[in-house]
Amino acid sequence: MAQEKKLGISVIGLFMGRNMLYVNRHDSFRCTVRTICDTIPERLKQNKDEFKIPFASTNWEDVVDRDDIDIVGIFTPDHLHFPMIKKALEAGKHVICTKPMVISIEEAKETVALVRKYKRKFLVGQTRRYVRHHQEAKDLYDSGKIGKPLFAEANYVHGDIWNVLDRGAWRYEVPQDIIYGGACHPIDHLRWYFGDIDEVFAYGATSPVDLRYPQDKEMNFLISLKFKSGLMARVLLATGIHTPPGGHHTDILPMEGFSVFGTYGNIVNYHAVYREEGRHDAPRQEVNFSRTEAVEDFDGKEYSGHLMSVLKYVMEMEECILQDKQPLINEVEGAKVISACSACWESVKTGKAIKVFNEF
Ligand SMILES: NC(=O)c1ccc[n+]([C@@H]2O[C@H](COP(=O)([O-])OP(=O)(O)OC[C@H]3O[C@@H](n4cnc5c(N)ncnc54)[C@H](O)[C@@H]3O)[C@@H](O)[C@H]2O)c1
Repeated sequence: MAQEKKLGISVIGLFMGRNMLYVNRHDSFRCTVRTICDTIPERLKQNKDEFKIPFASTNWEDVVDRDDIDIVGIFTPDHLHFPMIKKALEAGKHVICTKPMVISIEEAKETVALVRKYKRKFLVGQTRRYVRHHQEAKDLYDSGKIGKPLFAEANYVHGDIWNVLDRGAWRYEVPQDIIYGGACHPIDHLRWYFGDIDEVFAYGATSPVDLRYPQDKEMNFLISLKFKSGLMARVLLATGIHTPPGGHHTDILPMEGFSVFGTYGNIVNYHAVYREEGRHDAPRQEVNFSRTEAVEDFDGKEYSGHLMSVLKYVMEMEECILQDKQPLINEVEGAKVISACSACWESVKTGKAIKVFNEF
C-alpha cells in the first residue's frame, strides 16, 4: 500500500513506546509512525534517525493535532496518560494507551465519556493478553477442558525494582502508584477470563528494598477478589521484594503468574493438567505452554517480549479502525480495571471489603 494511504501514528514516550516504531519495518502494516515525541533530545534524535521518522519534537502537543496523524500512541509516565488521552481524543484521534490506562476512577469515567463523545477507537496496551503462552492458556480454558472455575490467582511479582527506578526518576519522585501501575496487569488478566469483579479486599505494606521509593507508600499487596459470578480469586502484587530464585520466568514465582483451578483440571502458570470431563478413570492430560521469552515469527521477523505484544496490538487497532470493530481491551474494559484498582486502594485505607464500580 502506498505510504500516503497509510494511517499515521504519533508515538509519545520512547522507552516502552520505542517498540511501536518497529511498525515501520513491516510493509504489511496499514499504518506507519510519522511523528514521535520524547523530552530527552538524544533519545528522540536517535530514534528519529534509526527508524527514519519524518517529524520529531520534544513537545507532545506538536505531534497530536496534525492532519497526517490518525492514531496517538501514549507511552509516557502513568500520571501523564490522561491529559494526553484527552487532547488526542479532542483532536479526533484514535488512541492506543499503554497500561495503566489512567490513575483514578474519575479519569477512567472521563476517558469513557470522551471516547463516546468523539466516537474514536481506544485500545489499552495490556501486554499480557498478547503474550503467546497466556493466549495458549486462555484457549485451553475456553475449550472447556479445565471445566468450570473453582478459584483463580494472578500475580505481578517484580523483584529488584531498583533496575526500573534507575531508568526513570518519575517512578519514585511522582511516585508511580503501584496498584494502578502494577495490579492492572493481574486484574486485567483475571477480568479477561472471568469478567466483572464485584468486590475486593486488600492489604498493603511498605518495603525498604529501595529507599528512593517513598517509605510511607505501600509496594507489596495481597488482594482478594469476588467476581460477579461468585468466583473467588487472589492477587499477589509484589514490587518491594528481591527477585525470587531463578528469575522472573521460572516456575518458582513467575512475574506474570496466572492459575485457574477448575472442575476438570488446573492451569498453573506455564502448565496445565486435566482429565477429560474430570473423569477419575480418564488419563491425565498434560500441556506445557511456551514461555514469554519464546521468540515468535511476525511477518518474517523474529520478536519476543513487549515488542511482540505491541506489534500485535497495533495490528489489532489497525483492523478495528479499518473494519469498525472494538478492540479487545477498549475504554470500558480499561476503565473497569482502573475501577477495581481504585477499590483496592479504598480497601487498603479503610480495612473494609469494597464494591467495584462497573457501570461504565
Ligand atoms: N507491560 C507493559 O505494557 C509496560 C511495560 C513497561 C512500561 N509500561 C508503561 O509505559 C509507560 C512508560 O514506561 P517506561 O518504562 O517506558 O518509562 P521510562 O521512564 O523508562 O520512559 C518514559 C519515556 O517517556 C519520556 N517522557 C516523559 N515525560 C514526557 C513528556 N511529557 N512528553 C514526552 N515524553 C515524555 C521519557 O523521556 C522517557 O523516554 C508507563 O505508563 C508504564 O507503566 C508498560
